[in-house]
Amino acid sequence: MKIYKERDYEAVSKRAASLVANQIKAKPDIVLGLATGTTPIGMYKILVEKYNSGEISFKKVRTVNLDEYRGLSDTDKNSYHYYMNEILFSKVDIDLSNTFLPNGMAKDPEKECQAYERLLRSLGGIDLQILGLGENGHIGFNEPGTAFIEKTHLVDLAESTIHANARFFENIDEVPKQAYSMGITSILGAKQILLLVTGESKAEALAKVINGPVTEEVPGSVLQRHWDVTIICDQAAASKLGEV
Ligand code: F6R
Repeated sequence: MKIYKERDYEAVSKRAASLVANQIKAKPDIVLGLATGTTPIGMYKILVEKYNSGEISFKKVRTVNLDEYRGLSDTDKNSYHYYMNEILFSKVDIDLSNTFLPNGMAKDPEKECQAYERLLRSLGGIDLQILGLGENGHIGFNEPGTAFIEKTHLVDLAESTIHANARFFENIDEVPKQAYSMGITSILGAKQILLLVTGESKAEALAKVINGPVTEEVPGSVLQRHWDVTIICDQAAASKLGEV
């Protein structure tokens, strides 16, 4: 694991965007695994700036997102489809037919999960997977207790995740209770992994991910088993690294 401790959120976003931009330059048709949530927003903003200044192009880039809420359509403003369009896709020259997320409106969840795994394979696997970290140690929506062997699957969200995500919804009852998520096996299949972690509320989870035992109770701890992981965190998130 390569670990970069940056001063603050801005510095984390900058380093992450540089790393991603360099990978796009090295492989213009790269397959990027994308995360949503608050953490990567700064990185996406800087990537858009790099596109606007002519430093990078997304013309041939292919993307697969980690997850999507079940029951939300592409146009729902809380869906991850909507987030990706707003924050990145509509602002760069990406070909939308090269962007993929699980279909939250799929009629048959099992078929949808199998189709998503087939898609990952047909793209030749993920070159660089970007991840955020849940306060409970989740990656994607792989909640504590999820078997490492899982591929893309339908998840019952943990109560703590529903509460953490309620800030985006009018009220907590509107937060979907289920989501599609790539599994740990799908994530570990990526050639390179970039984990972004900021804020004190993630400090304990990050300490467990880096220094704790590899356990399904802390899904992110499985990253210790991957051969090419880069973690970029701020000082607040790194504040408990000495404690586990
Ligand atoms: C989002 C995702 C989640 C988030 C995590 C952290 O696609 O897969 O695992 O990365 O919940 O979310 P934020 O960044 O909002 O703290």
